Amino acid sequence: MKEDKVIQPHHHHHQLLLRRLTVFSGNRLARPISFLLLLVLSYTLGYFSASPPPPPPPLQTPIDHHPTTTVAAQTFPDHNRFSTRCAAMPVPSKLIRQTVINRVFNGSSPYYSFPPPHVAHLLRPKRVKGWGSTGSVFETLIRKVKPRTIIELGTFLGASAIHMAELANRLGLKTQIICVDDFRGWPGFQTRFTDIGSINGDVMLMYQFMQNVVYFNVTDSILPVPYSTGSALEALCELGVFADLIEVDAGHDFHSAWSDINRAYKLLRPGGVMFGHDYFTAADERGVRRAVKLFAQVKGLRIQTDGQHWVIDSAESH
Ligand SMILES: C[S@@+](CC[C@H](N)C(=O)[O-])C[C@H]1O[C@@H](n2cnc3c(N)ncnc32)[C@H](O)[C@@H]1O
Repeated sequence: MKEDKVIQPHHHHHQLLLRRLTVFSGNRLARPISFLLLLVLSYTLGYFSASPPPPPPPLQTPIDHHPTTTVAAQTFPDHNRFSTRCAAMPVPSKLIRQTVINRVFNGSSPYYSFPPPHVAHLLRPKRVKGWGSTGSVFETLIRKVKPRTIIELGTFLGASAIHMAELANRLGLKTQIICVDDFRGWPGFQTRFTDIGSINGDVMLMYQFMQNVVYFNVTDSILPVPYSTGSALEALCELGVFADLIEVDAGHDFHSAWSDINRAYKLLRPGGVMFGHDYFTAADERGVRRAVKLFAQVKGLRIQTDGQHWVIDSAESH
């Protein structure tokens, strides 16, 4: 039986109705209004008895032939298209300190006349606290890379920065460490660090960090850049301040880590190394570790680990 010959019960009923109406109108109401009525009714019945539209074709599931290496690159094919362009001419290593002082501090060293009288009484001679801030990765990488410039994202009280400055000095390197931190800590951190004072809500974290740098006599090696990592890295990129070694240890949620790693990578000199902490903490499968893994996957780079630290050497691909 062909499909177009099948008469549905409701369709059959409509035809019967139409036939009766035709007879009725032809015999008794041979007037224009009856034809109009017939027309409207036939249209309505035809509309309701029409078969429903065919269902849409099922969605095709794309087959990923290279799930481990290219899935992110396939999903975001324009991942590497950023609007910001870093300066074409890198600032020479020996000019980096003065460039940062000029551009960030208007030409005057932040250590000049430090500490200011209105905060001096709130500072302790030395107050250092870090997390994995003296791990073996620091010495391994400083010996390997012999960096002229280090950028640290996330400094807090300076434990890791001071450790790197002392290592570099011991190895006879002339290393400048640029410490990017907004020096706000995180909301509520003062409930744990009750001894870090504040004035009208302005927490003394940067001052205590600088006091620590003074205490350990490494002011020549360390400069703070007291801004968010996003805006600071953007500015360093435009200025042409590149680094041989970059430590990423600021925000640990996925989006912060992802943004910092991507921005930082643009500031790595050829052959430079990027590394960071908290690769193995449980929560970081959704935070730092996820960002590092995805980044390495997109760029085809190899992740190495050293204790709790991850390391990506830009010279070493898969
Ligand atoms: C884990 S601590 C850094 C510890 C330090 N690297 C050490 O080992 O001693 C994280 C720091 O990142 C800073 N931070 C977090 N998110 C930031 C952001 N978006 N911009 C600037 N600093 C940020 C916080 O103020 C805090 O001082």
